[in-house]
Amino acid sequence: MQRQYLHVGDRTIAYYDSAPGDTAAKVLLLVHGFPLAASMWEPQFKSVPAGWRFVAPDMRGFGGSTLEPEGESPSIDDYAGDVIDLVRELALATPVVGGCSMGGYVTMGVLRIAPRLPRALVLADTRAGADTSEGRAARRTTLALLEREGPSGIARDMLPKLLGRTTQEESPDIESNLRRVIKQQSAPAIRSAIERMMHRPDSHAVLKNVSVPTLVVVGQEDTLTPAADAEKLAAAIPAAELVVVPRAGHFANLEQPALFNAALTSFLSRL
Ligand code: MLT
Repeated sequence: MQRQYLHVGDRTIAYYDSAPGDTAAKVLLLVHGFPLAASMWEPQFKSVPAGWRFVAPDMRGFGGSTLEPEGESPSIDDYAGDVIDLVRELALATPVVGGCSMGGYVTMGVLRIAPRLPRALVLADTRAGADTSEGRAARRTTLALLEREGPSGIARDMLPKLLGRTTQEESPDIESNLRRVIKQQSAPAIRSAIERMMHRPDSHAVLKNVSVPTLVVVGQEDTLTPAADAEKLAAAIPAAELVVVPRAGHFANLEQPALFNAALTSFLSRL
């Protein structure tokens, strides 16, 4: 995967693109989860179906994208605005838009700002609701941990929650790879993502009006956004189908790429 760069005003959006300049292909735009970067989609970029072009941006401050100056009040919809800028600047014709976890929150932000932009949706290991008050308290604890220990403290705290039981027992390489990726991210990017997520709005009203085909995917061993949340999410969207990926946790696309890719390819083949 080779990073590309788009300059919008004084900002840089880094992204991966499986077929730069191919205007004939159908497009799937994928938004990464927290606290990772677009590189989390590598297993999907290795298996792009014929006739498709996959594009995956780094959200502000992650991977190779720049972060806005501190002091501006960060919102999840800023990330969504960057996704929309990327679609417009690359002249991507009505893409499928999808994301994992935080990337799902961003996808819902895209629907809030530009409801007619996506031709279909992929929502992986994510949820429709805003943070509860307990969820916000947990975010404040994470912010304090970030201040004390930086990204490596975040990696230590989060990895056991991010990966499913099976991956933790059987795939230490996935765990060490994710630890490396989390430690590469900057503390300001992680801090601003936590703030954006803790203040994100509830998206049920937006999802109720979705009329495009939607794939909801969840890892069976996901404890952060469990299968019960995915069932609620799928029930909130009129044309949704739900796929539960066995032996996977919160990052089903990385933990069981073959099963995830099979579900994705089957969904895309029907668009
Ligand atoms: C993610 O994977 O993007 C995060 O776990 C989402 C969250 O913390 O709400």
